[in-house]
Amino acid sequence: AYIVRFRMRNSNPYVKCGDIVKELEEKCRTPVSKLRHIADAMTVEMHAGLASEGGSKLKMLITYVDNLPTRDEQGVYYALDLGGTNFRVLRVQLAGKSGIEYKEFAEVSIPPELMVGAPEALFDYIAAELAKFIASESEKFRLLPGRQRELGFTFSFPVLQLSIDSGTLIRWTKGFSIGEMVGKDVVAELRKAMDRQGVDMRVSALVNDTVGTLAGGRYDNKDVAVAVILGTGSNAAYVERAQAIPKWHGPHPKSGEMVINMEWGNFKSSHLPLTEYDNTMDAESLNPGEQIYEKLISGMYLGELLRRVLYRMANEAALFGDMVPPKLKTQFILRTPEMCAMHHDTSPDLKVVGEKLKDILEIPDTPLSTRKIVVEVCNIIATRGARLAAAGILGILKKIGRDGFRDGAIPETVIAMDGGLYEHYTKYRNCLEKTLEELVGDKVANHVKLILSNDGSGIGAALLAACHSQYI
Ligand code: GLC
Repeated sequence: AYIVRFRMRNSNPYVKCGDIVKELEEKCRTPVSKLRHIADAMTVEMHAGLASEGGSKLKMLITYVDNLPTRDEQGVYYALDLGGTNFRVLRVQLAGKSGIEYKEFAEVSIPPELMVGAPEALFDYIAAELAKFIASESEKFRLLPGRQRELGFTFSFPVLQLSIDSGTLIRWTKGFSIGEMVGKDVVAELRKAMDRQGVDMRVSALVNDTVGTLAGGRYDNKDVAVAVILGTGSNAAYVERAQAIPKWHGPHPKSGEMVINMEWGNFKSSHLPLTEYDNTMDAESLNPGEQIYEKLISGMYLGELLRRVLYRMANEAALFGDMVPPKLKTQFILRTPEMCAMHHDTSPDLKVVGEKLKDILEIPDTPLSTRKIVVEVCNIIATRGARLAAAGILGILKKIGRDGFRDGAIPETVIAMDGGLYEHYTKYRNCLEKTLEELVGDKVANHVKLILSNDGSGIGAALLAACHSQYI
């Protein structure tokens, strides 16, 4: 083994690195034919998940949201948004047809130890922020006597709901892992914490971020039928016909519709282009075997995949010289925003790449050839993710019959998009949009729009709290 290593170190590193890049590129290929297979597999799984509980890896969760905001909503409502690296509290004042009159946010990052600690600690932290938010609020929000503040709770994890304002956690995703919470009602936990912190509020709606985004999107645009989050994690929700949900045994909603939280992050198919890097990252993750699609496309994982490829190149092909930079061994040290910054570096000497390698991985001086390789790897990983996300969207469009003509016309479909990855990673977003156009074809592409619904999930939760207010 020593001899082999020795020989490799002395050979031209860029030849071997080139081989590794080529192999990666080959394994990550997503030709349109493959994307179509993936979209079809998504559609098939959607049907299976709707047919019976546990019928598919796609949970296709019933959200109890059978009415989306109409702009008749009035009054002041609150929302809590928990599910990524940040946690937000917000207040909106709704003025019927004139829309949102006023909104205000407070955002705090979640201390990492709370993501893997005890449930009380996490919920107390949240409730305490909520208490602060209310304590600092101006006179004009003083409640009428006998009225209670109402809150929409965006909790962005898979939850099994039996009503709009309750639901038990199915499992954690995205690096959260608080064992005692699984199987418990998250609203009950929040309520207990609010009691402990002296906050008097009614939780009127429990929603996933995709569902909030759908509601927020619909408030602005009546053609919104789907919402997709591409952030730390990834997921989609859409409006389904109640009749197309065999597992729904409840009363038939007046609207005839029901919003479904797909939990598409857990999608898996033999068509997915998985590499050794994906497999080992998955095996070493907090949730091995789960959220495979999410691990290919979402922000929590892209930077980590990049790190894994660079680590192999450093080890086997001396990408960074004779030494393997020790920092490169640390999981999740390369975050997707950093990867994004490197990928978008347009300076002739790839200055940003050089700086990031130095600041994060403590690799002092890297030649241009090395920096170019890093950018190439960013490109392969981001491109694969974006193209796979586009295939997922095609799967939904097919399921709801919006990928072509319907009753002699192509329906207008708007997809509300949110999440830091979509918002900030321009190359990823552009690639996703281009791929979706390619997949649906020019004619349909003119009728399918993706809009950034920034902060949609929080506002949407407040809107849904309004729709389910105890005072209407
Ligand atoms: C994860 C969660 C899902 C959420 C998504 C985006 O996939 O399981 O509920 O919607 O991340 O935040």
